Amino acid sequence: MNKNTATKKRWVAGWKVRHLMVIAFGIAGTYAFLESRAQWSEMHRWNRAIGDMSLLMIAMSMAIGPLSRLFSVFRGTTPWRRELGIYGVILAVVHTAIILVGWVNWDLMRLFGYEFHPAGLYVMVNQGFGMANVIGIIALVYGLVLALSSSDWSQRKLGGPVWKFLQQGAYVLWMLMVVHTAYFLYFHFQDYHRSVPDPNWLQVPFAVLVSSVVALQISAFIKTWRLRRNRTRSEEQPLAG
Ligand code: HEM
Repeated sequence: MNKNTATKKRWVAGWKVRHLMVIAFGIAGTYAFLESRAQWSEMHRWNRAIGDMSLLMIAMSMAIGPLSRLFSVFRGTTPWRRELGIYGVILAVVHTAIILVGWVNWDLMRLFGYEFHPAGLYVMVNQGFGMANVIGIIALVYGLVLALSSSDWSQRKLGGPVWKFLQQGAYVLWMLMVVHTAYFLYFHFQDYHRSVPDPNWLQVPFAVLVSSVVALQISAFIKTWRLRRNRTRSEEQPLAG
């Protein structure tokens, strides 16, 4: 190896560095979200800050694939997908635990929109809350399957096609998360029986984030389709001629 090649060699973060950096990013981001809404009650502040950071990390993990297909400068970022996804799902587990303990007090019927009536039975009071939580639970199950299969060991054990099939579930997870978050950001607090809290400042950034990830996915899809079409055409050319 000559001197030039040695100096041109890019630094690639090992898995331990990636884990540490993603953990530090998760803590710093959660802290920033917490501070940005200091006026809210503790449970809502923590619950939302952790949910938001989970969404951001999974969105970044989703964006890396299309970004590296569209721009060669992002090619080195592919390994970060895994750690961002894993810690995003861990934060979603903490977010769920806060809701179970701090919001519904382990009363699972309340999680699905029911409240206990003094007459001695559960009555449905909040269909939207129940539906959004069901969507969140399905997203979490998907997320856990993806996070648990995000290792070289499980990739080897499951084999290429099965592993790939599981990982493609990331798109389903992403869509479920988007619907779940949109409900709480735009709908849930609009008909609050007490004073309506200030609108969450995340409403606009969330719309921008989701549109950007979708735009990247569509652009990468079109680029891959064009490349494949051109390759097929050039392979067919000699036969046609
Ligand atoms: C992958 C899984 C999940 C992700 C990424 C996620 C993410 C989010 C996000 C980003 C918000 C909006 C926070 C804000 O208003 O700033 C949110 C709100 C909420 N989520 Fe989730 N969530 C997930 C799973 C769940 C599950 C399983 C439940 C219920 C068991 C749940 C219940 C809630 C509730 C009740 C809120 C309203 C929070 C509040 O206003 O304090 N989420 N979630």
